[in-house]
Amino acid sequence: MAETVLLEAREIEFSYPDGTPALGGVSAGIIQGSRVAVLGPNGAGKTTFFLHLNGTLRPRRGEVRLAGERIRYDRAYLRELRRTVGIVFQDPDTQLFSANVAQDVSFGPVNMGLPPAEVREQVRQAMAATGVAHLQDRPTHSLSYGEKKRVALAGVLAMRPRVLICDEPLAFLDPQGQEELIELLEAESRRGTTVVIATHDVNLAYAWADQVLVMAAGKVIGTGRPQEVFQTAGIMQQAGLPTPWILEVYRELERQGWAAGGSPPRRKEELLALIRQAGC
Ligand SMILES: Nc1ncnc2c1ncn2[C@@H]1O[C@H](COP(=O)(O)OP(=O)(O)OP(=O)(O)O)[C@@H](O)[C@H]1O
Ligand SMILES: [Mg+2]
Repeated sequence: MAETVLLEAREIEFSYPDGTPALGGVSAGIIQGSRVAVLGPNGAGKTTFFLHLNGTLRPRRGEVRLAGERIRYDRAYLRELRRTVGIVFQDPDTQLFSANVAQDVSFGPVNMGLPPAEVREQVRQAMAATGVAHLQDRPTHSLSYGEKKRVALAGVLAMRPRVLICDEPLAFLDPQGQEELIELLEAESRRGTTVVIATHDVNLAYAWADQVLVMAAGKVIGTGRPQEVFQTAGIMQQAGLPTPWILEVYRELERQGWAAGGSPPRRKEELLALIRQAGC
């Protein structure tokens, strides 16, 4: 199947108003329907890059394209863009502002002008998917951090975006919450949504992503399939990233002669099957 670039950044450059340089010519293409993990140290520019993808920030140079068309920055266009490209912020406190959870999750669909029955249904589904239905009458300020993160995600899902961008979705979730969130991202991806996440979790990025984008100091220093990027020592060193454990175990198996080259496994189950097969 031909790959379509849905969202594209071309040589974007950006500095914050106080003069801090954040992006120094970022180019990246996001394939429709793919799962993309953006990695890189603190301050690399991941969040700044995301904020360009839905027009919240405007590049000083370069451009962002959606389905081949250069995005515009007029109100009407941005409104449409933000429902196509939904961002769940790193810090949920910057996202939640309604009095209670149900109102917060409804905000997007109501603003889109959907009929009340559709709003109710989309909100119900989004709250069920994120496991926050039981919190619907709670004031948002009284929620735990992890609960806030789920509610923020529900608010974006309720708009049914074509591209779902999650900035550090796993941060501050408990282990079960992390598992559930990964499941949810899988489910969204299966529905055909293009899912982009920023994460510091190399193991998740390795096992989950179709495409990995590594950033450092405001630039993309490597991109490609996880098996390639995570085996390119130069990229990993420059970004200060550790090797995913599955890859490390696999390399040891290769060194010991128990694995015969080929494509390394990406999931724990595949690695275990390989070990059983080798009888080691
Ligand atoms: N509002 C702001 N004003 C000034 N500088 C900013 C602002 N937000 C971010 N920066 C700077 O821009 C650069 C990129 O920051 P950004 O938040 O995009 O990095 P990041 O990769 O998301 O980091 P993290 O992993 O910590 O979330 C950093 O040097 C940061 O200090
Ligand atoms: Mg960030």
